[in-house]
Amino acid sequence: MTQTAVDLSTDAQAEICEALNQCVAETAVTTMLAQNFHWNVTGMAFAPLHELFQQIYEDHFAAQDDLAERVKALKGHANGVLAEMVKASKVDEYPDSKGASAQDMIKAMLAAQETLTQTIGGAGELAAKHGDTLTEDLCIERGRTHEKFAWFLRAHLDG
Ligand SMILES: [Fe+2]
Repeated sequence: MTQTAVDLSTDAQAEICEALNQCVAETAVTTMLAQNFHWNVTGMAFAPLHELFQQIYEDHFAAQDDLAERVKALKGHANGVLAEMVKASKVDEYPDSKGASAQDMIKAMLAAQETLTQTIGGAGELAAKHGDTLTEDLCIERGRTHEKFAWFLRAHLDG
């Protein structure tokens, strides 16, 4: 049976919120990474990559809000402090993007999407363990989106 936010124990809520805040942090770092690449990508594939990176940051910007608002529904604190998010994130920024090739950017963004799939997948599994199917559903949907973007990016490297 579905456990609603109020049915969950305080410990379960806290555990799920911690996992979701990690997802928010990594999604936020990837949002900025995608915007950085959207601005700075160069080369023959400029137009489609400029567009793809925009698609990614727009998706991720909306997703970080959905994930953080799920934290609030579970009575947690949504961590919106950028410096803490960067520190906690397993997705790294790309400080050397000046002069980076389009291929370098695609590889870095692909790695970010794969990391996000893992982190959000883990949060979904934790939610499932506690019977929190509503959080699990959100995480599954996000996992599908990250795998779709990973495919889009990988397709550029296969050509
Ligand atoms: Fe733009």
